Parts: sequence; C-alpha cells; structure tokens
Amino acid sequence: MTLIEDIVIRKILDSRGNPTVEVEVYTLSGYGRAAAPAGKSTGKHEVKAYPAGGIDAGIKYFKEKMDNLIGMDATRQEDVDAMLHEIDGTENFSMLGGNIAVAVSLAVAKAAANSLGLPFYQYLGGVYATKVPKPVGNVLGGGKHAVGGTTIQEMLAVPMSESARDNVFANAEIHRVLGKKLRERFPNISIGLGDEKAWIAPMDDIEAIELLVEAIEEVKGEYGIEIKPALDLAASSFYRDGKYVYRNGEKTPEEQIEFVESLVKDYGIYIVEDPLHEDDFEGFAELTRRIGHLAYIVGDDLFVTNVKRIKMGIEKGAANAVLIKPNQIGTLTDTVNAIKLAKENGYATVISHRSGETCDTSIAHIGVAFGCEFIKTGAIGGERTAKLNELIRIEEEIKGE
Ligand code: PGA
Ligand code: ZN
Repeated sequence: MTLIEDIVIRKILDSRGNPTVEVEVYTLSGYGRAAAPAGKSTGKHEVKAYPAGGIDAGIKYFKEKMDNLIGMDATRQEDVDAMLHEIDGTENFSMLGGNIAVAVSLAVAKAAANSLGLPFYQYLGGVYATKVPKPVGNVLGGGKHAVGGTTIQEMLAVPMSESARDNVFANAEIHRVLGKKLRERFPNISIGLGDEKAWIAPMDDIEAIELLVEAIEEVKGEYGIEIKPALDLAASSFYRDGKYVYRNGEKTPEEQIEFVESLVKDYGIYIVEDPLHEDDFEGFAELTRRIGHLAYIVGDDLFVTNVKRIKMGIEKGAANAVLIKPNQIGTLTDTVNAIKLAKENGYATVISHRSGETCDTSIAHIGVAFGCEFIKTGAIGGERTAKLNELIRIEEEIKGE
C-alpha cells in the first residue's frame, strides 16, 4: 500500500515569480505533494539548488533516473534518500539539484503519511508533541532581500506566549504597527516590502532596531505577552575583503564581535543569526563565550544544515543554535540528522523558510515533530501565512482544542 507507484515533477512559481519544482508522489493508497523553496542570501557551503544547466536540466536528469525510485517503499525514508544521493552521485547534489532532491524527499514522506492516514507531523514521530515551535517573525529588513533597506538582513520579533495563535497574531500586529511608524517617519517616500514581506525603509541599522523595539513594546502591552527582538545579520552578505561593510561605515571582525555584543546587551536581542561570516567558526566561538548565556547565537550560512559543519561548530563551541533549512542539505533524512545532532549537543534548533517560498507547509510539521524551539517563516504574506496557519491548525490538534 505504501509502494511508490508514480512520481510527477513540474515547474511552478515561487513567491518571487521564479520557477521552482513541485513533486507529487503516488502510492496505491495515497499521495504526497511538496515544493522546494529558494534562497537568495545562500551560504556558499549549501548543496547546489540545481545542476549547472539550471532547473530544466535538473528536471530532465530526474526524469531519466526516476525509475530507480518506483517500487520503493515510501515509508523507507532513509532508503529513498540514500537512493536520491545515489542518483545524484556527487557530494553536493550538483547533478540532480538539492531543490529537486528535497521536493522528492518530502513528497515521498508526505505520500507515506497520507497512505497511512496520518497527519504529516504525526507520521514524522510527533504523536507525543505537546507544543509547536515559537514563530520568529521577520518584520523589517534589507540585505539581499531588499535593496535600499538596512544592512542587517532581518529584524524579527519573538512572542513568548505558549499559544501559537497568539504568537502568530502578535507578529502580524508588530508588522502592522511598524508599517504605521514608518509611514509617520517617512511621510514623503513609499515604503515597500522585501522578499519575505518585511518592511524596507532607508534606515540606519540602529535606528531600525530602535523602531523594532518600540513596535514590540507597543504590541507587548496590547497583548500582555512577553515579546523579544531578534536579528539575522546574514553577515556573509556584507563581508568584503576582511571587513563588515555597513551602509554607514566598516567594521573589522573584532569590532563586529563588539558591535553584536553591544546589540544583545543594549537592546535585549534574544536571537542573533549569522552575526559573522560563514567560515568564522572562531569568531562564532568567541561571541558564544561572551553572550551565549544571554542570547541564542544561530548558525545559518555557518552550518548550512550539514552535520559535518555542525560537528565542527560543536567541537569549537561555535554558536548555541542551528538554523534548519531542508533544501540547504537536500533530503529529509539529512535534515533530521542535523536536528538530532544539534539537540543531542544542547544546541537549539530553528526550522526555517527561504526568502523565495511556496505554500508548502512541510517545515511546520517537521518543526513540531522534532521539537524545534523556533520556526522562522515571516510574519505576513500568503506563502508565509500558509505555514503560520498550519501551525495554528497543528496546535489545535495536539492540544485537543
Ligand atoms: P535566503 O536567506 O534568502 O537564503 O533564504 C534567509 C536567511 O538568511 O535566513
Ligand atoms: Zn539567515
């Protein structure tokens, strides 16, 4: 009943209007569909999203090799994922494309769940889950996601209620309040939204962090819940020739560490992602020594959801949390191994969307099933709310509401 009968692969649009892949997997008794997201501020150690010939070459390659998966048992996820690696035959999915691999891998898992009549998070082992990850909402930013915005890529909010619904609504409200504040501050220019639907404004980073904190304070009072500020610096994207290049000046790596330390101490930043460039394990370790007791220091481009790199981090004491993006590594099994390794070593996990997204909700289910502490999937925008609304539904189910 769970044997793979057929696989369909197609090109669909992502939230930026670029092509991405969607895969359907059919068994005798069910089916699963999954789509790959797309990064823009990608880490250089991620698997290749597509082979050198692009998405079409990847789809063609997959169709030629697809027969290897037909007849496999969809519930044997590790075997299926091993076959995807075999079909690809490289270290970094540069023949098949990690985006194709991840869409197939997730569609197989969803088909297995559906064939067995189980919600996806339960199939993944989340039958005893009692809570859902806290949503970390991107509300203001710049970097590679928004030309003309702040140098720091993302300014986010983390509502701390035990209710996912309250947290999701609080983030949307912070987004709204920030929009109002920006229109007041910049009455004569149009304020836009970046790729993840966070506001973009021509602001200095500190000015933007102060505005974020103001908006958080306002909504905190209104909702009566604790809400904390967070940042994703995506520092690799503005690291040039040994310096961190901000819109208003440069910082040496040592100055960057001091700057991040001061941000955490002065503004109570609760989560700080990629504060240093993607190969600076030593700098991450130094920062973790200085502020690891005050904040989550998250490696995204540093770890790229890769167990080898996470192990390097653990050995050096670099960071205390890992960002988890399934398409950075290419299969569900590799993703789960990364989450498990992080957890076994006391690192927190943040399951995450990409800046280019679809309405696929897999990350909400994975985050619940494996007990990720946080989920980063925006604050508003259809492709983001698809996942946030799924969290609300899952929470209802696991709390028996
Ligand atoms: P992305 O970046 O554009 O690569 O998805 C998101 C992030 O840095 O967290
Ligand atoms: Zn990031």
